[in-house]
Amino acid sequence: MTPDEPAPAATSRGGLEGIVAGSSALCHIDGRTGRLLYCGYDIADLAAHSSFEETAHLLWHGELPTAAELAALAEELRRHAEPNPAVWDLARAAGPQASPMAVLRTQVSLLGVLDPEAGDGSDAANRRKAARLVAQCGALVAGTERIRRGLEPVAPRPDLGLAAGFLHMLHGTVPDAEDARTFDVALVLHAEHGMNASTFAARVTAATLSDMHSAVTSAIGALKGPLHGGANEGVMDLLRELPDVEHAPAAVRAMLAQKRRIMGFGHRVYRTEDPRATILREHARRSGERHGDTRWYALTRAVEQAVLLEKGLYPNVDLYSGAAYTALGIPQRLFTPVFAMSRMAGWTANVLEQHRDNRLIRPDADYVGPALRDYVPLESRSAA
Ligand code: SDX
Repeated sequence: MTPDEPAPAATSRGGLEGIVAGSSALCHIDGRTGRLLYCGYDIADLAAHSSFEETAHLLWHGELPTAAELAALAEELRRHAEPNPAVWDLARAAGPQASPMAVLRTQVSLLGVLDPEAGDGSDAANRRKAARLVAQCGALVAGTERIRRGLEPVAPRPDLGLAAGFLHMLHGTVPDAEDARTFDVALVLHAEHGMNASTFAARVTAATLSDMHSAVTSAIGALKGPLHGGANEGVMDLLRELPDVEHAPAAVRAMLAQKRRIMGFGHRVYRTEDPRATILREHARRSGERHGDTRWYALTRAVEQAVLLEKGLYPNVDLYSGAAYTALGIPQRLFTPVFAMSRMAGWTANVLEQHRDNRLIRPDADYVGPALRDYVPLESRSAA
């Protein structure tokens, strides 16, 4: 299309809304009925019966693992649990004020430089890189947080899975079974979600035949944004603004009247409740009760009812993760890095899938600039 041709009809409301950007066997979302499937399995079944390790296997291989396959994956994750210590030098150099997502993005990029198979883009090498990234992401998040607090990273324990292992590396103590299960469910729920912004960023990068770590670094950069993964931290900022449960509805109505975006609500695809919010709501309630602090759950519930009544907006995955993570002692600044830790499974699965049947992703754009015009020499130009 040249500048003097008429622009084609707009293909979307902006943001590629409603545009099918490719095909995938990893995830189906029915936004109308609020149904989410990973490779055909309902997220409610996976949250009730599966683990993050099983979910990673499902996304990478398209099938839930047999007992032997699960044991082999657990051994592979254990083998690669310890990241190259250069990531801790980077965390120290970044300092305690650096954005945890910016540090994680840079650490993953560094792991790409140091990866033993950096130059190998084969499917087998990419699957091994995927396991290393999923195995190490929790250690990066927890270890960097401890360095931020002036502590040393805690070494991964070979006897703990990824969920319990993260809480152990963060707190230095082994979590009880309920906390470990709550976090494992949160990791399952956040692992994959179709062509969301960060996964699309990963696929666009992978589609140039760039490497796994470059694609995941693109994804982390996208997830960092407050309209995407950063919303879970924004929910806690909102809750901290509220005086108490009783006054929350009036405060929310005032925010909406000022046209403020209420983090944790609305979604590009769901037109009803995000099924992940349904599950996280219950875990947030139970975790708050177990730890004797239901304040954040109660505030979240009050906000949820006010936004639904006032704006007809439903909660998304980010709304209750704040209350659940706070009950587990996870600091607010780690909420988005924890999202990245989980989505690492989905991002790497999407890169594997993209490379298995690839075509460069290069959409068109409506040209809305000036029509064809003559060049103006410098000496003839005057200020506009
Ligand atoms: C995630 O895509 C994924 O799958 C993402 C994700 C995943 O797992 O990867 O599900 C994770 O990112 C969940 C979303 C987290 N983000 C937030 O919670 C941020 C707050 N939500 C919004 O900014 C918004 O809902 C989006 C960005 C999530 C979706 O926005 P859309 O589809 O672009 O909708 P829109 O901005 O065009 O809004 C439509 C209307 C507008 O009203 P009008 O201007 O037409 O009157 O709804 C309003 C918006 O103002 N609206 C909100 C709102 N979300 C939409 N108003 C107040 N608060 C909100 N949160």
